[in-house]
Amino acid sequence: MSLTKTICFANNKGGSGKSTTCANVGYAMSILGKKVLLIDGDMQMNLTLSFFDDEKSLEFAKSAKNLYSAIIDQKDLDEYVIHTGYDNLDIIPSSTLMSSIEFQLFTKWQREYILKRGLQKVKESGNYDYILIDAPPTLGCWVMNIMCASDYLIIPVEASPWGLFGLANMFEFYEQVKLISPSLEILGIAITKASERKNYFKQTVETLSGLDNIRLFKSIIRIDSTVEWSQDVSKPVMAYRKNSRAALEYMELAQEVIKYADR
Ligand SMILES: Nc1ncnc2c1ncn2[C@@H]1O[C@H](COP(=O)(O)OP(=O)(O)OP(=O)(O)O)[C@@H](O)[C@H]1O
Ligand SMILES: [Mg+2]
Repeated sequence: MSLTKTICFANNKGGSGKSTTCANVGYAMSILGKKVLLIDGDMQMNLTLSFFDDEKSLEFAKSAKNLYSAIIDQKDLDEYVIHTGYDNLDIIPSSTLMSSIEFQLFTKWQREYILKRGLQKVKESGNYDYILIDAPPTLGCWVMNIMCASDYLIIPVEASPWGLFGLANMFEFYEQVKLISPSLEILGIAITKASERKNYFKQTVETLSGLDNIRLFKSIIRIDSTVEWSQDVSKPVMAYRKNSRAALEYMELAQEVIKYADR
């Protein structure tokens, strides 16, 4: 395995906290001294918007400096890296054009491996300890690209009545990916947007901790309006309010992720 560990955040359930977790765990890792590259794999550009305002993000989307252009032209991704302004933390922004990525991939040779090939040089450079990829809420050839390019998968699951719906499809998809990328491992499930006062929080924990051979991260991310306020100003929650509960929780989760990914 390369020294650079690649971790994707995926769940076909929309709004499960993929982008928020990816952005904040990435930032926490950078604070812990790890060199991190974030990759925004979603047309919604939420990971990009976590670090840049709407205007700047749309500028990336319109320019050729984004993941969509890199994939379409099958380029090495090192040419597309942008510095976030925070130490140890870079990003490859997405584009709204990502909406047509499935269609674009359709005619490409070995289409499941385009992202993996594009990342080869970045990995070999040894510039990063971690590459974190934010996936869109779909299960198609593009998410297969994201998983084939990853060593580990983290599944953020919202502690809500509908949070678990569709998780079986996610596991089935993972098994399909394993057929062509056997080294991909589920690093764990992260419970997000939890409210301990609600009954379904308990149910979610019970169900997820009972899954065979799948780790449930101990760190649980609770609902905290500070997260939304931080996103409103395009900052990670730790940079927005260092001592908030959410900042602490993402830091704990990042430490847990590092502990297991570095084994
Ligand atoms: N810990 C939290 N506390 C409060 N709100 C949160 C928290 N985490 C995420 N949210 C909010 O929940 C919504 C969904 O989060 P996010 O965009 O990270 O999910 P996602 O899985 O990436 O969604 P999509 O499937 O659309 O890509 C966002 O509006 C975000 O601000
Ligand atoms: Mg998202």
